[in-house]
Amino acid sequence: MEVKTSLLDNMIGVGDMVLLEPLTEDSFLENLKKRFDHNEIYTYIGSVVISLNPYRSLPIYTPDKVEEYRNRNFYELSPHIYALADEAYRSLRDQDKDQCILITGESGAGKTEASKLVMSYVAAVCGKGQEVNKVKEQLLQSNPVLEAFGNAKTVRNDNSSRFGKYMDIEFDFKGDPLGGVISNYLLEKSRVVKQPRGERNFHIFYQLLSGASDDTLKKLKLERDVSKYNYLSLDSAKVSGLDDAANFRTVRNAMQIVGFMEDEMQSVLELVAAVLKLGNIEFKPESRCNGMDESRIKDKNDLKEMCELLGTEQSVLERAFSYRTVEAKMEKVSTTLNVAQAYYARDALAKNLYSRLFSWLVTRINESIKAQAKTRHKVMGVLDIYGFEIFEEGDNSFEQFIINYCNEKLQQIFIELTLREEQEEYVREGIEWTNIEYFNNAVICDLIENNQNGILAMLDEECLRPGTVTDETFLDKLNTICADHQHFESRLCKNSKFLNDHSLPHNCFRIQHYAGKVLYRVEGFVDKNNDLLYRDLSQAMYKANHSLIKQLFPEGNPVKVNLKRPPTAGFQFKASVGTLMSNLQTKNPNYIRCIKPNDKKASHVFNESLVCHQARYLGLMENVRVRRAGYAFRQGYEPCLERYKMLCKNTWPHWKGPARQGVEVLMTDLQVPAEEFSYGRSKIFIRNPRTLFFLEEKRKQCLEDLATLIQKIYRGWKCRSHFLLLKKSQIVVASWYRRYAQQKKYQQVKHATTVVQSYTRGWQARKLLRELKYQKKCEEAVTTISAFWHGTQARRELRRLKEEARRKHAVAVIWAFWQGLKVRREYRKFFRANAGKKIYNFTIQRIMQKYFLGLKSKLPSMSPIDKTWPARPYSFLDGVHAELRRIFHLWRCKKYRSQFTEEKKAVYEEKLEASELFKDKKALYPNSVRQPFKGDYLEISKNPKYQKLSSAVDEKILLADVVNKINRANGKGSPRLFLLTKKNVVLADQKTGQLKANVPLTDLASVSTSTQTDGFFALKLKEGSASAIKGDFLLSSDHLIEIITKLHRISSMAADREKLNIDISDEFLVQFKQDKVCVKFIHGSPKNGNSVSCKRKNNRLLEVSVPASS
Ligand SMILES: Nc1ncnc2c1ncn2[C@@H]1O[C@H](COP(=O)(O)OP(=O)(O)O)[C@@H](O)[C@H]1O
Ligand SMILES: [Mg+2]
Repeated sequence: MEVKTSLLDNMIGVGDMVLLEPLTEDSFLENLKKRFDHNEIYTYIGSVVISLNPYRSLPIYTPDKVEEYRNRNFYELSPHIYALADEAYRSLRDQDKDQCILITGESGAGKTEASKLVMSYVAAVCGKGQEVNKVKEQLLQSNPVLEAFGNAKTVRNDNSSRFGKYMDIEFDFKGDPLGGVISNYLLEKSRVVKQPRGERNFHIFYQLLSGASDDTLKKLKLERDVSKYNYLSLDSAKVSGLDDAANFRTVRNAMQIVGFMEDEMQSVLELVAAVLKLGNIEFKPESRCNGMDESRIKDKNDLKEMCELLGTEQSVLERAFSYRTVEAKMEKVSTTLNVAQAYYARDALAKNLYSRLFSWLVTRINESIKAQAKTRHKVMGVLDIYGFEIFEEGDNSFEQFIINYCNEKLQQIFIELTLREEQEEYVREGIEWTNIEYFNNAVICDLIENNQNGILAMLDEECLRPGTVTDETFLDKLNTICADHQHFESRLCKNSKFLNDHSLPHNCFRIQHYAGKVLYRVEGFVDKNNDLLYRDLSQAMYKANHSLIKQLFPEGNPVKVNLKRPPTAGFQFKASVGTLMSNLQTKNPNYIRCIKPNDKKASHVFNESLVCHQARYLGLMENVRVRRAGYAFRQGYEPCLERYKMLCKNTWPHWKGPARQGVEVLMTDLQVPAEEFSYGRSKIFIRNPRTLFFLEEKRKQCLEDLATLIQKIYRGWKCRSHFLLLKKSQIVVASWYRRYAQQKKYQQVKHATTVVQSYTRGWQARKLLRELKYQKKCEEAVTTISAFWHGTQARRELRRLKEEARRKHAVAVIWAFWQGLKVRREYRKFFRANAGKKIYNFTIQRIMQKYFLGLKSKLPSMSPIDKTWPARPYSFLDGVHAELRRIFHLWRCKKYRSQFTEEKKAVYEEKLEASELFKDKKALYPNSVRQPFKGDYLEISKNPKYQKLSSAVDEKILLADVVNKINRANGKGSPRLFLLTKKNVVLADQKTGQLKANVPLTDLASVSTSTQTDGFFALKLKEGSASAIKGDFLLSSDHLIEIITKLHRISSMAADREKLNIDISDEFLVQFKQDKVCVKFIHGSPKNGNSVSCKRKNNRLLEVSVPASS
């Protein structure tokens, strides 16, 4: 549920002065002070916002605050500038009413800040989107640009606006900003050439000098040092808290965002530089023959640089500073200028240059921010205009006069609009209008602006009058014409009542403004109103070759010479104020009245007299009175009912009917006197704050009662629910406890039962055990007794039997002995001669028979390589056993051989021969035993590639293989076909089969090979034979054993040849052409890997390294 809040909640003092009771100046100030001390800087007078400058940043402008105030009713929250901005924006958007926000107050009271706050609030709450954001950004960024050129440090304010500004922000029907128009009023241009003590020139000069790059300064012919420029005040060139250099960058950036071109910015800076240069031009007097003093420029360097900047001709400008041409009715009269006049001309040019540049800037910004769409739009105007200015000791001049006139006009419009608004509301609500007494300052406005006898009109008349015109003649005129005006005071006025008023000097006049009396010194009024720039100067400027300057001085165009005097400053201002006023009158006004709490720019200081003074001249008290003259307070029926419905039983807590009836019931019930309020159409109007406070007080009491009631009910409810909870918990706890106790008891009983049971069972068991044991023992005793008895019986029987057996044996032995004796006595004579030999032979025969039969059954297999043979049974048969083994083996071999065919026999013969040649001589041999000797490994005759070769070799090929021929130079091998026939050794190319060498076997002297596992062999040729010319062959083959065996076999078979020598050693000589080379075989180290490698070590040595374990 949304909580409806009100301005009246948590109020410090009163948030709306209309509710102040009693209403006196003291209570008014006290209320302001109280609120100010609590950081409440905003206070309302109805819909007017009073703003006190806090002179420090308060945390009340955060995005959260924006959200808080967004779309809330004006009186819903505590007073804030955002509430006013929101109200204005919403009635613009939703009710299609153009708005204006009028911000007034003294210099330094916070007007400019307030205007920025309003703009930033509106920017934050209005529509979003790329285009809209760009417009917002441009509108917001126009501020820094204008502030740089139009603001300055003054004694009152470090960032005082020295021009009036009115900005129209235009919105479309949705409330999205479309663009804006800025109007500027009366720049204080006298500041360009002279600043009061403790004040500065416009910010831009200092910003340019400290913030521009060296390069830019050089281009502008400037130096960074402020003290070099006459126009810049030195004593307060630095302002604490103001970073000119950083601000310069901000300004440039803002200009870019607003849409200034790079060359435009450059032109603007050139003009600023030109003004500084202009200030440095100085004049000296020079006497002329006619006795008149004429001025001359002291040092022309500055003039020259300035002319370069502006593109003017130096001589033209120089002349313009020395002469003045007056044109009248086709006549031209030139007069020379004296030094004072020259300085006047110089300053006038500087002021004009700067003020026109400023106006141009405003026009240029307007061009950028102007709304693009032509559709009808709504407007919100923000007016930030200089406030009422009163200098002490009558130091007020033309500027103050103009400014104060403007404020009079604003007050006028304020009175008109507030009263009108008030009246309109009463009419709208159907309430009877009662007339209100208030001071109307229309008389003062009339005193100043009346076309016939107004002060401004008098001044213009004086300025245009032929003859000598001085400020004094002007004062004289005032003294005559305004003498009777009740707000005009002057010492020499016809009205003699001021004759002895010494507070009124002779050269001054005093006006009783609505905000107080102001003493004006007439000095300079005429000049400033004339605002004269000699035509020679404007023409010189027009001639400048600089795009911007030309635009600024259109009157210098010689073609358009206008002899009429230009309108005076006063006239122009009056006109523009008039336009402004009529513009404001069409809009719905919203007021922010800024007040300065102290003169020291200090936070937390509230100077009562100062505030009182401002409150007086701003007419705040009157404002409150006007507001209260009718009804002090008004509120819509619904919020009113919502707020006070608890004060009456009928409306509390819910009222079913229309809100107005509810309020009526409420008021009747509360017995509020009928004259204290009126019922409007949509609002109730309460005449006196008293009544409102009565309602508020009642509400407060009622709220307290309600709070007590709520508290009471809540506490009761809380206690009850606590009690119920406790009760519930207690039952749960108790039930758990009982369960636990019962369980425990049950366990105990169960345990006791078990114990008793076990004791009984134990006792019973023991009893049974005892009985059983007794029984068992009885049985055992019986068994033992019977066993003993049987034992005794058995032993007795045994003894008897033994005795009997012994006796029988003894009888048998005795009988045998007796028989033996008898037989021996009978056969003694035969037995001794033959029995021994017969027994021996018989025994031997039996043994041999057994041996042979056993051997027959245990004979080994028929394989010749089976080495097994049964073990010998008797050592006396050793010789026979070995012989039988030999015979059996020979027989077995014979049987084996008899199976062989002729070829197989040849093969075995070859193998046998290989064994004879290599066994135990070459390490390669054992491996070759398993390999059959295939002979032809290549099937030369069947291979078509080698057809030519096989036809070249006419004999039968006994061996064909691929061997590696070792290159003599490097020991590398290249594959060759190796063919062996009965008569020749043939070497041929492996790929093509082309014949390489054909060596008759008769030419072979010997074959050399190593003792190791390698396949290297050398074919050595007989010295002097035909083949020996090329030298010996060093070859390597995987079938080395076969090749050499076959070579040896062929040579040994031929009857006509001597046997081929096979030389097996690890070092042999080979004849290579002329050289003998030693081939040496060494054991290679394992790091060389598993392959045989052959290297030529030197001329005489070829080293073959053979891996140890290949
Ligand atoms: N609402 C504010 N919060 C904080 N400081 C403020 C506020 N309003 C004004 N100031 C301070 O006061 C100074 C003067 O305000 P400014 O708006 O320039 O005065 P004015 O335009 O009325 O001459 C500002 O520079 C700022 O330091
Ligand atoms: Mg300002």
